[in-house]
Amino acid sequence: MKVKKAIFPVGGLGTRFLPATKSMPKEMLPIVDKPLIQYAVEEAADAGIEQFIFVTSRGKSAIENHFDHSFELENNLLAKGKRDTLASTQEMLKIPGSYAYVRQQEPAGLGHAIWCARHLIQNEPFAVILADDLIFGQSTTKEMIKNYNSGNMVAIMEVDKQKVSSYGIVQIDNNDNDIVKINQMIEKPSIDNAPSNLAIVGRYILDNKVFDILESQERGSSQEIQLTDAISSQIGEIPCFGYKIKDERFDCGSKLGFLQANVSYALNRNDLNSDLTNWLKTII
Ligand code: G1P
Repeated sequence: MKVKKAIFPVGGLGTRFLPATKSMPKEMLPIVDKPLIQYAVEEAADAGIEQFIFVTSRGKSAIENHFDHSFELENNLLAKGKRDTLASTQEMLKIPGSYAYVRQQEPAGLGHAIWCARHLIQNEPFAVILADDLIFGQSTTKEMIKNYNSGNMVAIMEVDKQKVSSYGIVQIDNNDNDIVKINQMIEKPSIDNAPSNLAIVGRYILDNKVFDILESQERGSSQEIQLTDAISSQIGEIPCFGYKIKDERFDCGSKLGFLQANVSYALNRNDLNSDLTNWLKTII
């Protein structure tokens, strides 16, 4: 069955970026000149996704506005003949009905956010994309869908052993392939309890049965309803796979990762590379 829908949980408070995120969604923070959420939506569209479901919360209306017309701005740019700039403000528009928004009324965890979108998914697998996890090349979701047959699939990568307690960590049998079978997963384990240093990155292709599990999922790590716990409880009933990401991933939920992403993406741009490189040489 084709994967045609993606859920973007964007209800989080973004406390790690205060005061910048006091009145602006953290997903609107730009990497060079494009907000994080647009990178996520573009990655989904490149993967063949046709319906983009945002799980929002209070104070996130800037995201809805970003994926809509801005008539005043568009008329102004048109009148001035700035066609390229105008095109850049319209490239995120899709056919009406492609974007849907549901509210998560309380920040109760990633699992709870996904569950809030349950009425918008029918009897079909779906993707989940966390915009904070920016993956270079924007082809991870496409590769995962290409390799997906059934069950659940999560993107994974090796992390420093000292950092396992910041991630969902998986246990696998055989590390030889790009796609591996997962036997166990634990959300944010201590270093001593971590079954490996293979962490879940924010890309998932999920069987819709996960909604039934999430319906009665107990609160787990950080007293939140965890998606990892719901996927983990299905292991043994339906297959669970890990897809090892191939490109560099930036944790844009952290200040350092966000700055690294901005420098890396800017260095990759023809209009910025040379001036930025020269300036970096002078300050390092
Ligand atoms: C979430 C997931 C975690 C995953 C991480 C990837 O955690 O719960 O399993 O490893 O995203 O970024 P969060 O970063 O939202 O605490």
